[in-house]
Amino acid sequence: MQKKLKLLLQLLSDGKYHSGTILGNKLKLTRGAIWEIIKHAKKYGIDVEAKTNLGYRIPGGLELLEKKSITKHLKHKTGFDSENLLIFDELTSTNAYVMDLVKTNTTKKYICFTEHQTAGRGRLGRTWISPFAQNIYLSLSWQFSHEPHELSSLGLVIGIAIIDALKKYGIKNGLSLKWPNDVLWEKRKLAGILIDLFGETHHVYNAIIGVGLNVNMAKKPGEKIEQPWCDIAQIVNSQPQRNKLAGLLLNSLLTTLTTYQKYGLKPFIEKWKNLDLTYGKKIALITPKQKILGTSLGIDEKGYLLLKDHREQLHHFAAGEVSLRFG
Ligand code: BTN
Repeated sequence: MQKKLKLLLQLLSDGKYHSGTILGNKLKLTRGAIWEIIKHAKKYGIDVEAKTNLGYRIPGGLELLEKKSITKHLKHKTGFDSENLLIFDELTSTNAYVMDLVKTNTTKKYICFTEHQTAGRGRLGRTWISPFAQNIYLSLSWQFSHEPHELSSLGLVIGIAIIDALKKYGIKNGLSLKWPNDVLWEKRKLAGILIDLFGETHHVYNAIIGVGLNVNMAKKPGEKIEQPWCDIAQIVNSQPQRNKLAGLLLNSLLTTLTTYQKYGLKPFIEKWKNLDLTYGKKIALITPKQKILGTSLGIDEKGYLLLKDHREQLHHFAAGEVSLRFG
């Protein structure tokens, strides 16, 4: 992102009107040049409103991510060096970025946020809609000595970590998890998790854990999402605090990962059960090969989905997509 655009956004971040002349003076630019930058901002999906005699404003304001404001929410101390917390204006994908870092560096843990992703990835080859400064896009790397197949439950505990953070933020009701790793509010998708596992050097496996949390999605980019969704702004009915959310989220992820690394899924199974949207409900489990109907019975000790079919036979699934059946 251009430096001038970033400075302009900082000036407009309070949500108030600023005249073109004053903005121009502050940035040492003509009013025409300011207008050109504003046009550029719109390309990033940033909603800048222009009004005659008043100037420009970003309705509702804009809270850019700041390292200090994020780390002040970190209570977690183990093995985390804040030098390895990186914040970018723009990346293709935070997962891709951290993956490259880990492949070329030996340092263990990286945490990376970006304001905007040009090629945000979702599960199953989908796109993750990632407009500038409206949501949270985060990836962190973690090293495990577990074999990759033992890490199949990692996404489940990350879901729990996200919900813990959202509860700390003040969202007490309506949150649930849908196997394997959708975070929902009132059955609408609020956050997604994408885990890339790779490499083995001396029995060390790297996990790149990506989290996308919808915080304050503008209308236009929101229209591109192909499933029922929601964001924090709709839930709390006020302007969300992105840095606080990012800090609480990171703290919860680090704490949860430390426990998971030591004890595996076991300490989380009961919690998952309490958050499971489909437990005891009729579902369809869709895999590339088949679609099986039955009743969801939660997860087993490995984190596999348990599904009882109409013959009362119990199936364990390591992968697939769950959809709720009505009627
Ligand atoms: C899903 O499809 O539910 C998973 C979405 C994961 C999105 C996040 S945003 C940060 C990280 N970088 C990516 O490219 N994807 C993940």
